[in-house]
Amino acid sequence: MNRLLSLGVLASGNGSNLQSLIDRSIDGTLPAKVACVISNNATAFALERARRHGIPALHLDHRLFSSREAYDEALIDALREYGVELVALAGFMRIITPVLIDAFPNAIMNIHPALLPSFPGLHAQRQALRHGVKIAGCTVHFVDRGTDTGPIICQAAVPVMEGDTEDALSARILVEEHLCYPMAVRLFAEGRLTVSGRKVIIAPEK
Ligand code: GRF
Repeated sequence: MNRLLSLGVLASGNGSNLQSLIDRSIDGTLPAKVACVISNNATAFALERARRHGIPALHLDHRLFSSREAYDEALIDALREYGVELVALAGFMRIITPVLIDAFPNAIMNIHPALLPSFPGLHAQRQALRHGVKIAGCTVHFVDRGTDTGPIICQAAVPVMEGDTEDALSARILVEEHLCYPMAVRLFAEGRLTVSGRKVIIAPEK
């Protein structure tokens, strides 16, 4: 069997994207193992999901640190302790600093519930509905120093329906998120992603 990529997941909430990564690693379609899950929120269901699968689940309380940088140093220590090679932000509600970004160059991914570069930041689905777009979706991208600005790895689109609520649109997008994130991580694990300026070049399957 090929070597498995060690994945560290940072999550603050429900963790359904974490679950999709765990599920795909268990069914063997993702050549990675979730080495640890870290949350700033002690009650994040993501931590419970990790525990149920015997994955180390760490609560790192940001309020105990004097700065964002100090918090990120603690994140780095924990990620290194578990041998993490790729960091996946999955609903992690913290701004990360260059300290963490520089520690994992082109090895931090994020998933965002919009077709970037449209609607970065918070409440992306609400922004999309208010703008009146007819197509919404999700984006997996490498993390750079901006907010949701990094090189795009993959995207998926969904229709916006007449009378959609934020919840209905979010649920439709989430179905695609659960396909996109494991796909992006798989491409990384297979060594098929190269960042060239703003672009991510995807090498064909070997
Ligand atoms: C997802 O919509 C993701 O795109 C965004 O936060 C949400 C996290 O959902 N960054 P979950 O915790 O993975 O269920």
